[in-house]
Amino acid sequence: MSDKNYEAIYRRFRPATFGKVLGQAHIVNVLRRQIAADEAPHAYLFAGTRGTGKTTMARLLAKGLNCLADGDRPCGVCENCVSIQNGAFVDVIEIDAASNNGVADVRQIRDSVVYPPTVGRKRVYIIDEAHMLTAAANNAFLKTLEEPPENTVFILATTEPGKMLATIRSRCLLFEFKRVPAAVIADGMKDIVKELGTQADDDALALIAANADGSVRDALSILEQCTSLGRSRLTRDDVLESIGSAGDDAVAELSEKTLAGDTAAALILFNEILKAGKDVRRVMEDWIDYLRSALLIKYLGKPETILNRSLDSIKEIRERTAGADEKKLAGYILKLSKLYNESRWSAHPGILAEMLIIELSEKSSEGEN
Ligand SMILES: Nc1ncnc2c1ncn2[C@@H]1O[C@H](COP(=O)(O)OP(=O)(O)OP(=O)(O)O)[C@@H](O)[C@H]1O
Ligand SMILES: [Mg+2]
Ligand SMILES: [Zn+2]
Repeated sequence: MSDKNYEAIYRRFRPATFGKVLGQAHIVNVLRRQIAADEAPHAYLFAGTRGTGKTTMARLLAKGLNCLADGDRPCGVCENCVSIQNGAFVDVIEIDAASNNGVADVRQIRDSVVYPPTVGRKRVYIIDEAHMLTAAANNAFLKTLEEPPENTVFILATTEPGKMLATIRSRCLLFEFKRVPAAVIADGMKDIVKELGTQADDDALALIAANADGSVRDALSILEQCTSLGRSRLTRDDVLESIGSAGDDAVAELSEKTLAGDTAAALILFNEILKAGKDVRRVMEDWIDYLRSALLIKYLGKPETILNRSLDSIKEIRERTAGADEKKLAGYILKLSKLYNESRWSAHPGILAEMLIIELSEKSSEGEN
């Protein structure tokens, strides 16, 4: 975008107070209490899925520990909060361990921690992507953690806590960031849409949230992509158009109709999906992914460890495919995958897909697998 002041929605709407954080209540509650009582441990580890609020929460904690307000901290508006928000507060230092400067920065920590905070109550070091610290940086840091300096708080954030040194991990208070439930994300987006001065249907926001798989950042990126269509009111169809995929909902329905042997309804639905501008092979991909999820959910106690899906989405798939036979699902997946490969060289992949839908659903209505 040409506007120099342009700022991505997910940046613009980074929560400035705990009240605006979506989900993660188990973390917010503890942090609020620790800030109110001024009882922060020396080191925190924020671990979990990308885009769920780790960096955001680290900044909120840094603000809360230095906020000048009497009530709920951080207030987001006092001098310190604003200064931290702008990255201008000398006692809050952010280090991106993924950048080349990691080692130098960590050495600098070791040299600077001996001095008390300059202007704040606490000096806070936020070490983002902490699993990327080099061995040298890790060792330098470990020494600091072994004798934690007073009035200093370290906040480490990572998507991959397993890649961190156990000796560092064990010295931190661990918080696990969970995927945010789709309904919570959808609800949060309502406020954002209002602040943006546009409108969106509830089912449009629900579809965006469902596609974000628990990541608020992903949801806001999709929302941004959708709003760039320039509609005065965002509808579910707009969202479908924008994400260029049939989405779970469409393939879930397609599965239901085919499994039920309702050939006509399945064919009509399939053509509607294509008419909405979806690419045939993309629909097949989504469909295969959906069926695979449905199948694994039937076999696994904890499918979320394998499937890249939110618990909400897993629950919905489980409910919607409860009556489906495993063998049948497996058969569908194999046939669709075969067609997916063959369709690469076909001039009419849509027609081939229709033939397959007819075959599958006729078999269903005849009671075969
Ligand atoms: N729990 C949340 N509540 C509200 N907004 C959120 C939340 N999580 C993420 N966001 C939105 O997504 C953006 C990115 O979030 P953040 O940087 O905190 O994610 P992260 O967990 O650090 O991700 P990564 O692992 O990729 O670093 C924020 O600016 C905010 O707009
Ligand atoms: Mg982050
Ligand atoms: Zn404040």
